[in-house]
Amino acid sequence: MRSFCKELAQRQGLTIDFIHGDLPPSLSNTISLTLFRILQESVHNALKHSEAREVKVELRRASNEVHLRITDSGIGFDPGSNSSRAGLGLVSMRERVRLIGGEMKIESKPMSGTSVYVRVPLSPAEQERGPENEAPDRKKVS
Ligand SMILES: Nc1ncnc2c1ncn2[C@@H]1O[C@H](COP(=O)(O)OP(=O)(O)OP(=O)(O)O)[C@@H](O)[C@H]1O
Ligand SMILES: [Mg+2]
Repeated sequence: MRSFCKELAQRQGLTIDFIHGDLPPSLSNTISLTLFRILQESVHNALKHSEAREVKVELRRASNEVHLRITDSGIGFDPGSNSSRAGLGLVSMRERVRLIGGEMKIESKPMSGTSVYVRVPLSPAEQERGPENEAPDRKKVS
């Protein structure tokens, strides 16, 4: 993912800010491929439609899920409108995520950028292999 971002950024003269937190040591091929496809399509959409020159990619683990967020600061669009359903990109991203039991959200408004947010559940095996099973943000401090 990192090298994809770097290469695309260089090729397109785009700034891609890639941030990632701790991830499980291994992810199933299905999850990795799904996340990679979402990244590809979202960055391509940002490039094709948003007019933004900067894209932020965030990949992190949150207890038993992996979260991926791709944000641009471009022109945005209305995700509920008919024209947003005209392409195949968003539809097939949503379908891919659904097939692995995850969830996808698009936050976008005309003139205020777009954020594609994906949550994917980890399998029990992937959760066990992780170093920090206790999510620090869930710990109660009293
Ligand atoms: N980052 C974005 N910024 C602004 N508009 C967007 C963005 N992403 C998607 N859109 C809008 O949503 C529409 C649907 O996106 P989608 O990826 O499904 O189709 P597409 O990119 O037009 O075609 P395809 O992906 O099939 O080549 C786009 O045509 C565009 O109007
Ligand atoms: Mg597209």
